[in-house]
Amino acid sequence: MSVIIIRYPLILLNLKTYPESTGQNAIEFARTVERVYEKTGISIAVAPQTVDIQAVADSSETPVFAQHIDPVKPGKNTGHTVPEALVEAGCEGALISHSERQLPLEVIEATIKRAREADLYTVVCADTVEKSARVASFGPDAVAIEPPELIGSGIPVSKAQPEIVSGAVEAVKKVNPKVKVLCGAGITDGEDVTAALELGAEGILVASGVVKAEDPYAALLDLARAMQRWKKPVTDVTG
Ligand code: G3P
Repeated sequence: MSVIIIRYPLILLNLKTYPESTGQNAIEFARTVERVYEKTGISIAVAPQTVDIQAVADSSETPVFAQHIDPVKPGKNTGHTVPEALVEAGCEGALISHSERQLPLEVIEATIKRAREADLYTVVCADTVEKSARVASFGPDAVAIEPPELIGSGIPVSKAQPEIVSGAVEAVKKVNPKVKVLCGAGITDGEDVTAALELGAEGILVASGVVKAEDPYAALLDLARAMQRWKKPVTDVTG
């Protein structure tokens, strides 16, 4: 199984704290990601709960992200999650200020700085176009636009609120063209992905559409296939 490199378009699978994606199930999801990567070559990372990070990292080649990190240095910080410790546990990246674990702006800025010091890839979540531009100015690797009201709804942001996706892409690239833009909330199938990519998003952040799917492998494969089509549109139908 070859190592999955973080590249774009990207799928970031947030396992949240669903029972379907906790413990041994988290490991199964990381292995499902490997199978979809083998089939499509599409880069997919997974964000398990902190308690599952080491086991997931040890049991698959899937890039592992933390769902949250704290802007602290190793030392006396009881109950905090130190970036260097996550790297040691096998983490390659981190979600910062997800709408279910929001942080004040100054803490987001400090967390990006700490993550960079530990060489963690940073994906900062934002719930508005304005917020996405603000956090982009802190220089993360990527910003993920997610309107909280659509999270877990099955109503895709790329169809229900296309202006928030294209608005965030424009606002973020204006601040820093190097910062990648993901979108998330309500994404469940390939059509939602194609709509997101057409709006300028460079990847997706997804959870329930895969974690709670009857067949998570088929659901993830459908999302990845849409990205494959996007990357290499079929031009020569005779081939
Ligand atoms: O982090 C991803 C997430 O918040 C989107 O959730 O369940 O709508 O895909 P979901």
